[in-house]
Amino acid sequence: MCGIVGYVGERNAYDILIKGLHRLEYRGYDSAGVALVSPSGTLNVYKAAGKVSNLENYCKDKDTTGGIGIAHTRWATHGEPSDRNAHPHFSEDEEIALVHNGTIENYKVLKDALIQNGCKFQSETDTEVLVQLIEYIRTHNDCTLLEAVKEALRQVVGAYAIAVIEKNRPDTIIAARKSSPLVIGIGDGEMFLASDATPIVEYTKDVVYVKDNEIAVVSKTRPLKLVNLNNEETSVDVKTLELSISQLEKGGYPHFMLKEIFEQPTTLLDCIRGRVVNEGKDIIVSGVLDSKEKFMNAKRIIIVACGTSWHASLIGKYLIQDMCRIPVEVEYASEFRYSNPVLDDRDVVIAVSQSGETADTLAAIQMAHDAGAYVYGISNVVGSSIPRNTDSGTYIHVGPEIGVASTKAFTGQVMVLTLIAMAIAELKGTMPKEDLIKIGEEILKVPDYVRQTLELNEQIERLSLIFTYAHNFLYLGRGYSYPVALEGALKLKEISYIHAEGYPAAEMKHGPIALIDAEMPTVIIAPNDHLYEKIVNNVQQVKARHGSVIAIVTEGDKEIRNIADHVIEVPDVPECLTPIITSIPLQLLSYYIAINKGKNVDMPRNLAKSVTVE
Ligand code: M6R
Repeated sequence: MCGIVGYVGERNAYDILIKGLHRLEYRGYDSAGVALVSPSGTLNVYKAAGKVSNLENYCKDKDTTGGIGIAHTRWATHGEPSDRNAHPHFSEDEEIALVHNGTIENYKVLKDALIQNGCKFQSETDTEVLVQLIEYIRTHNDCTLLEAVKEALRQVVGAYAIAVIEKNRPDTIIAARKSSPLVIGIGDGEMFLASDATPIVEYTKDVVYVKDNEIAVVSKTRPLKLVNLNNEETSVDVKTLELSISQLEKGGYPHFMLKEIFEQPTTLLDCIRGRVVNEGKDIIVSGVLDSKEKFMNAKRIIIVACGTSWHASLIGKYLIQDMCRIPVEVEYASEFRYSNPVLDDRDVVIAVSQSGETADTLAAIQMAHDAGAYVYGISNVVGSSIPRNTDSGTYIHVGPEIGVASTKAFTGQVMVLTLIAMAIAELKGTMPKEDLIKIGEEILKVPDYVRQTLELNEQIERLSLIFTYAHNFLYLGRGYSYPVALEGALKLKEISYIHAEGYPAAEMKHGPIALIDAEMPTVIIAPNDHLYEKIVNNVQQVKARHGSVIAIVTEGDKEIRNIADHVIEVPDVPECLTPIITSIPLQLLSYYIAINKGKNVDMPRNLAKSVTVE
C-alpha cells in the first residue's frame, strides 16, 4: 500500500522519480506527488489526485529541475484521494517534505497536541502529523533533521517507511522504516530508495534492505549510514539484486495480468527447478530439510495468509493432511492475530504471502513467534519482510508479479505447498515412495500441461462474451476444487466488479441454491477426481433450476459434457495437481470478462498489490 521513491545524485531526480512511481503504481494509484529541491534552492512540491500520469500532466509546465527528490503513489487510508491529501506533505514552514507508506496509529493524539501548540494542518492524513512533528522538534530543539526524525519516530506508534528532504540540505535524504518495506540502492555518486527494488534495478544492483527501526542517511557524497533509534550505528549489509528490467515490462502483452497468466509454464518450471530431481524420484525442499525435526514432530500446522494466498493455503491444507497426516488449520492472518490463538512450540505456523509484506500476515507471524511456534515462510519477493522474519522457508520463484490480481503467484504457491507436503510425507513415511514418485514424475510435466491449458485461450475469450453482462456468478467445487472455486470468484470480482461467490458445491443446497435462475451463471470445477460423481449431482441440481453451467472438466469427460451448457476441458493430472491446472481457465475467464467491460485489469479500483496496512 503506497509506494515511495527517492533519489539524490547528479541526474535529474524528477525523471527517475516518475519512472519509479510508474513501477510502484501497483502499490496504490489514488494520487501521486513529488518533492524536488531545485538548483536555486526552492523546495517544489507537486501533487495530483489519480494515477501517476495525472501528476506528469500537472508537472508539464512546472520547474522539475534538481538532483534530489522524493515521490509517492498513494493508496488512501486516512482522508479521501485528493490533491490535498496526496503526498509529499510539507511542514508548515515549507522547509521539509515527507512521503510515507504505512499508518500512524496514534496520529490523533499527536495531531491534537500539535494543534494546541499552534500548528496548522492542511490535510486529513495521518502522515502530515509526522512532518509537522519533525518540524516542531527541529525548530524547538534547534537540532538536525536526522535528530528530529529520530525523536519523532520515538513518539510514533504504527507502521512506516518514510523519506524526508529539507530545503537547505539538497544533498541528503533521511529515510526510515518500521513494518513497511524500504530498499536503498547504492550507485556511484548517487543513491536511490524505494518501497521495492523495481525503481532501482536499472541504475544499480547493489542494494541494502533497511531493517525495522533503522534510519538511513542517504547522501550523494557520503557512504550510506544506518542508525537505530538509540543513535547507534548499525551495519550496512549490501546485497546483489537478482532482478532484470525485462521482468518488469509487458513483453508484448496488453496487460501484466495476461503476461503473467501466460508466463505460468515458465514460472512453474522455475518453481520446481532443483527441487524435483532424479526424473521426479526425489523432492528436495531445502527449507523443509532445515526444519526436519520441527515438521517431523509437529502436532499441528497452522497456515496464515490473506486473499489469494489464503486460497492457496486451503489447498495446502488438503495436501498436507492427505500426504502427511498432520492436522492443518488455515487462518486469515487478519483474524488469527486477534483471535487469542492457542499455540505452543510443537506448532508449525506457515505464512504464505506473494509480496512478503502483508501487514496482517507479518503480525500473525510475530504472534506465532512470541508463542514459541516455529514459523515457516512461503513468499515470492526475495528479501521481503516475511522471509526475513521467519525461521525458515521457501521462495516460489515466479518472478515479479505486477498485475494486482494474483495469477502466477497462486500457482507457484500451490506448487510449493505440494512440494513441501511431499517432502514432509517422505520424511515421515506417510506415503508409499512409489506414489510420491508418480506425483514427482507428473510434476515435471506440469509446465507442459499448463501450456496445453493455455491453448484454451481463444475458446475462453469467446465464452467470456456470453457472460460479460451477468450481475452475479456462483463458483462451485469440492475437495481440492473448492479453494479453486473461491479463487475463481475472487479473480472475477476484483477485476470486473461482478459479484461472485465461491462455495463448496455440496453446501449449495443449504442456501445459495435459492439464487439460481436462468440469469445466474454457475462455474463448476469438476475434474476427474474421487468426488466426480458427487459433483455431477450438483451440476444436475443447478440445471434442474434452469441455471447456466460452465464446467471445467478433464479432457475425455463423459457425463458433465452432456449436462453443462459450456465445457472447458483441461489435461488429465493427478488429483493433487488439479488446482494448478483448473485455476488457469478461471484466470482467463475473469481477464476477458473484465476486458470486455473495459476495466483496468492491472489496477482495479480501490485495490493495491501489497497490503502493508491493517
Ligand atoms: O502479498 P500477499 O500474497 O500477502 O497478498 C495477499 C492478498 O492481498 C492478495 O492475494 C490479494 O487478494 C490479490 N489481489 C488477489 O488477487
